[in-house]
Amino acid sequence: MNSLLLYCRAGFEKELAAEITEKSSALGVFGFARVVENSGYLLFECYQESEADWLAQQLSIQQLIFARQMIVVSDLLSSLNPQDRITPIIEKYKNNTALDLTKSTELWVETADTNEAKELLTFCRKFTVPMRNAMKKQGWLVSNKQLKCGLTLHIFFIQPNNCYIGYSYNQHHAPYFMGILRLKFPVEAPSRSTLKLEEAIRTFIPKEKEHLHFNQEMYAVDLGACPGGWTYQLVKRGLFVYAVDHGKMASSLHETGRIEHCAEDGFKFHPPKRKKIHWLVCDMVEQPSRVITLIAKWFSYGWCKESIFNLKLPMKKRYQEVQKCLSYIETILDEKGFKVKIQAKQLYHDREEVTVHIQIM
Ligand SMILES: C[S@@+](CC[C@H](N)C(=O)[O-])C[C@H]1O[C@@H](n2cnc3c(N)ncnc32)[C@H](O)[C@@H]1O
Repeated sequence: MNSLLLYCRAGFEKELAAEITEKSSALGVFGFARVVENSGYLLFECYQESEADWLAQQLSIQQLIFARQMIVVSDLLSSLNPQDRITPIIEKYKNNTALDLTKSTELWVETADTNEAKELLTFCRKFTVPMRNAMKKQGWLVSNKQLKCGLTLHIFFIQPNNCYIGYSYNQHHAPYFMGILRLKFPVEAPSRSTLKLEEAIRTFIPKEKEHLHFNQEMYAVDLGACPGGWTYQLVKRGLFVYAVDHGKMASSLHETGRIEHCAEDGFKFHPPKRKKIHWLVCDMVEQPSRVITLIAKWFSYGWCKESIFNLKLPMKKRYQEVQKCLSYIETILDEKGFKVKIQAKQLYHDREEVTVHIQIM
């Protein structure tokens, strides 16, 4: 098994290829990214034996902006017999003698997140139970799901008779089927954008630490707040929110008594005096360079301690644009003496954009 198979939003394969090539070479691993546009995944073939496995142990999915999942695979298992797909898959796993399959905790039978592959999903679901049973007979998939050094087995179908078989390391993978965190839309929320902030919070902040990041003593500023999907998430977590936007905020949010609507320009808005703002969130549709400069200003002036914001990416060189923005803010904050943690991800609910989390440490 000497390739990484990485899943992404369809249309972002080139960005992911640029990213994995850069981040793996920074770790001394060189390879070649095979890209099929709009396929929703790519193969990164490492030049040296067993380097894909090594990479999967060094790189966490959290460090990759455009990847939803990362698995180690061997070459394509093709022309499977529809009467018995299970035997050759088991054999292929057994051929990898370096892999301790007794440490496997889960099996996911997956496909790409594209319209074309949607039909395959039904097949994947049906195939999972017999495949899982066959693996259990081998003594695999019996380890406790909490096993820190555990493996998840992935079978990634590109057609009903063609698949990649592989695995991911549990401590480094995205802990969701197809790398997608599925969320239920809260009916009382004013807009579907609410899911973006919810996914960002769940992605960037460990569940057990959420109470340290959000509580009733905290104030937040939401730039580009209307109609209030993001504000809703903050109010739900107890915060008082200054919602900045010339538009109209949902009346349900006014009724909570936990917001103040400021009909102002987000680029000119200053935080209210005598209020310590913890959170700055920003979902204004603007050029990434303008947004990152604004966020850098807020941190530099000590106006906020933590931020989640979007960088909209309508341009061509999207990976380069994101990198430019991230290194800009990193440099500015470093020069000012701030120690910060910066995370960025193209979330499932993000379209032509990525979401960034910055926290002062
Ligand atoms: C994508 S919507 C925000 C949706 C919101 N996050 C939600 O969850 O409901 C973008 C908003 O940014 C606002 N906006 C754009 N430019 C702005 C500016 N310079 N100042 C304040 N608001 C701005 C728009 O009026 C619009 O309501």
